[in-house]
Amino acid sequence: MVDTKAIEAAKEQFGKVLEQQLERVERIKIEADWTDYSALKPIVIGMIGGDGIGPTISAATQRVLELLLKDHVASGKVQFKTIEGLTIENRAAKLQSIPDDVLAEIKTCHVTLKGPTHTPEKGDGWPNIESANVRMRKELDLFANVRPVQIPKEGIDWTFYRENTEDLYAVGSQGVNVTDDLAIDFRVITSPGSERIIEAAFAHAKRTGKTSVTVVTKANVVKTTDGKFLDIAAKVSERYPGISWEGWYIDIMTAKLLDPKRRTDFQVLVLPNLYGDILTDEAAEIQGGVGTAGSANIGKVYAMFEAIHGSAPRMVKEGRDRYADPSSLLRAGAMLLDHIGFNDLGSKLSKAIEVCGMFEQRLKMTGRDTGADCDEFGDYILETVANPSLEERWAAYTGV
Ligand code: IPM
Ligand code: MG
Repeated sequence: MVDTKAIEAAKEQFGKVLEQQLERVERIKIEADWTDYSALKPIVIGMIGGDGIGPTISAATQRVLELLLKDHVASGKVQFKTIEGLTIENRAAKLQSIPDDVLAEIKTCHVTLKGPTHTPEKGDGWPNIESANVRMRKELDLFANVRPVQIPKEGIDWTFYRENTEDLYAVGSQGVNVTDDLAIDFRVITSPGSERIIEAAFAHAKRTGKTSVTVVTKANVVKTTDGKFLDIAAKVSERYPGISWEGWYIDIMTAKLLDPKRRTDFQVLVLPNLYGDILTDEAAEIQGGVGTAGSANIGKVYAMFEAIHGSAPRMVKEGRDRYADPSSLLRAGAMLLDHIGFNDLGSKLSKAIEVCGMFEQRLKMTGRDTGADCDEFGDYILETVANPSLEERWAAYTGV
């Protein structure tokens, strides 16, 4: 027996989702232009500690950024601001993924550097509120999740442009249990949403002298939404005659990231949200672990930079939080510097992270008292980033 009442209720819910999403499309069409950081004074950088190991790695990263930016802080070009309250305790108490007053504070900053925030899941003792990350990405319209992965000695230099607001994430908490037996989620891909992320990927390729863009979908099976993403890639590519592009399917892409003969061919990769979530964890693991990768969440008005790992509650419970490795947040800090126009400082910091964490390894982080702690590692980075020998030490490692 077909349950017509259940079908009607589901249709109603679907109708609401369609309304919301069509409104969102209209907002994207009229969105503001890119922020021009060169014209801003001060550029306000918000520091958000987050949960678990977040405050520890955030403090180490802030010390490094403050050193690198000290002249700009002195001249009034840059201002740091600390944002309190994006903690699981406060979020649970207010039953909001980002409490209103915290969100208002975040919006007073042009860019933020965010430590990991705990994402509640059913049964972990916290109310099952939406992920603070997902909320912030939607709220600030941070549509481009940029995740670079590099292994210079193996010739790997990938930049992932993961769409960050659509796909299964757009209405991830508004699926429908039509009956006890039938659950439906909604996958949302829009033309302007796809166009702006694909355009950002091609523009990045052009700006950085890359020659190819790889568009990853499953358009052979998911014909309507992934088909649209691919069609739009074809259209955008016409504006970039100097850059070649190719469509790849997510399954074979996942395999080919492990193929040493093929993987050095990939340069800039652009893909819908969920494929990007999964593929970037794989890529970070190839680089040396998810703890080694930084991540930028970029919109036209705001941008947020974060580690791609979580808050490591186990480390805190076992009293090991002071041994947390700040590398991933430091990398995010380097991306932040690049984004706001201090490319020379961003590049210095990236090199110092490589030299300290991957090449010289004068201090080893083991996550426990057998290795260095976060502050000691922070000092090592501080010493390296400010040292004229940085270029030489970097060249000894990479051969360039
Ligand atoms: C990431 C994370 C998030 C995501 C989680 C914490 C919601 O895995 O940034 O990749 O799925 O996007
Ligand atoms: Mg992820």
